[in-house]
Amino acid sequence: MEFVHRTVLLEPAVDALLNAPFGKRRGGSAQKANGAPPLDGIYVDGTFGRGGHSRLLLERLSPDATLVVFDKDPQAIEAAHALRENDARVRVVHGAFGDMPAHLNEMGIEHVNGVLLDLGVSSPQLDDATRGFSFMREGPLDMRMDTSSGITAAQWLADASLEEIKEVIANYGEERFAFQIAKAIVSGRESRPLRTTLDLAELVAGAVRTREKGQHPATRSFQAIRIHINQELQELARALAATLTVLAPGGRLAIISFHSLEDRMVKQCIAAAARPGAALARLPIPEAQMPPPVLISLGKVVPDEQEIADNPRARSAVMRVAERTSAPLPADQGASFVKAMRLVPLGGRRSGGGRR
Ligand SMILES: C[S@@+](CC[C@H](N)C(=O)[O-])C[C@H]1O[C@@H](n2cnc3c(N)ncnc32)[C@H](O)[C@@H]1O
Repeated sequence: MEFVHRTVLLEPAVDALLNAPFGKRRGGSAQKANGAPPLDGIYVDGTFGRGGHSRLLLERLSPDATLVVFDKDPQAIEAAHALRENDARVRVVHGAFGDMPAHLNEMGIEHVNGVLLDLGVSSPQLDDATRGFSFMREGPLDMRMDTSSGITAAQWLADASLEEIKEVIANYGEERFAFQIAKAIVSGRESRPLRTTLDLAELVAGAVRTREKGQHPATRSFQAIRIHINQELQELARALAATLTVLAPGGRLAIISFHSLEDRMVKQCIAAAARPGAALARLPIPEAQMPPPVLISLGKVVPDEQEIADNPRARSAVMRVAERTSAPLPADQGASFVKAMRLVPLGGRRSGGGRR
């Protein structure tokens, strides 16, 4: 069966990478950018999916441009290879976008003119029951974007401690009943291992005492476990730092997030890189000696009502856009601009600060 992906913020994302000025847009605010990135430049689509953004980018780019596409998902990579067969400008990487600098380096690419990340899962991943992402469809409890490596949700849920499960569901699902759900999972698995999506969905539904209006009781837990299995926030943190190192001066960054945990990380990183002297603002340091901005924030864009009506999955999307200046990165290569959230390492103890 063929599953399709409806690309979110298609035109706005491509405009964000290629158009100058990227001015005030629907649902958002924006500052003036310096100039248009070159149409014969090198661009990265870090989340190829089914290539909606990549195809429009290629339409707009000149014949001399290069588009490097990444995805962890072997099925997405198959679609990317099919595109590459018809368009020699495309270079395909089966891998994590957090590893962008190393992969670009192998290709002899030091700097790029734009990076697009359309985070989260694709519709084909959600709609294909065999991938195990959906609490609505019976399938094996897998949830890996990269089905060629790593542990499945079923394996993790079979071995993780009550505390670990609670932390994941609380931190990544912002679920009030995280403890009750973790307890139900740990006691339930003693009598019957969790094998399918519906095994988990039913168990969670039994542990959640009050339902949120219009939301399945397992929504938050499925989101949390998926984020954990794919280490999505750790990956985003690596990608933000990586992007600062690979973007050429004037290069653009456009990141589409689908939940507040991701959006907060992106927003905080752009704000910190746009005002690297913020922490020194109260000290008597002359303006000329303040560290210069590494990014200029070009604002955010959200889908309009029409797009949300046409594609309900777009409703929680937020795209943030920024432009790299020519200022050198600080000695830590911009790592300090990226705040680690309350991260739970896969199979280990929790790291990072924050709430218990
Ligand atoms: C929302 S979809 C992108 C859809 C795409 N923009 C399109 O128009 O078809 C997100 C994709 O990013 C991939 N992905 C998520 N995290 C990734 C990571 N850390 N590295 C590489 N690919 C990732 C997923 O496998 C999925 O295919």
